[in-house]
Amino acid sequence: MVLAPGPKKGPDGVIMELIIRKGYASDWDDAMELVWRTFLEFNAADYSVVGQENFKKFLFNPELYQQYVIGNYDLIVAFDSGTMVGTLLLRENRHISLLFVDGSYHGKGIGHKLIECASKYVRKKGRRFKMSVNASRYAVPFYKHEGFKEAEIEQFEDGIRYLPMELKL
Ligand SMILES: CC(C)(COP(=O)(O)OP(=O)(O)OC[C@H]1O[C@@H](n2cnc3c(N)ncnc32)[C@H](O)[C@@H]1OP(=O)(O)O)[C@@H](O)C(=O)NCCC(=O)NCCS
Repeated sequence: MVLAPGPKKGPDGVIMELIIRKGYASDWDDAMELVWRTFLEFNAADYSVVGQENFKKFLFNPELYQQYVIGNYDLIVAFDSGTMVGTLLLRENRHISLLFVDGSYHGKGIGHKLIECASKYVRKKGRRFKMSVNASRYAVPFYKHEGFKEAEIEQFEDGIRYLPMELKL
């Protein structure tokens, strides 16, 4: 699936040529690197040291890549003029495992478009009408803005704090 909404004027005046498409195995390393550097910039402070280590292990564990290869995950990637600027990893056509947009591209609608694209996967491929996420503290206002509702109270597990949320599709 390719969404090419064309140039969009960002808040800082930069014109982007945004492409959102399915991610392939060749995109995997760049996607995980983007996630890790964005996590360090925006999320790490909300995690304990153990939580940060656990998140890194999750990302770079070959088992996660294997699960992607056998089809339990779908990768969606956003590019601006050939540079990867955002990514979403969807588990079993129903759960957002990762959603990260490069810091210099925040607030330009990329997170929204990645959610829109994932929703299509969930509805068409998964034939489901609900998408879930364990939202980081940083991202809770964004998910609320996107229409997600709290599904449970905030959880703290393996040093990682998150709010289970759901979006009805
Ligand atoms: C959360 C994240 C993915 C949002 O991506 P983004 O591309 O900046 O979001 P968008 O520009 O698409 O925002 C869509 C809408 O949500 C709003 N929004 C975004 N972040 C928001 C925030 N922190 N608080 C309130 N509203 C917010 C935007 O203003 C926009 O509203 P509009 O359509 O009225 O203009 C990005 O901030 C990020 O990568 N954060 C760090 C990683 C993270 O926490 N990921 C979630 C892991 S569960």
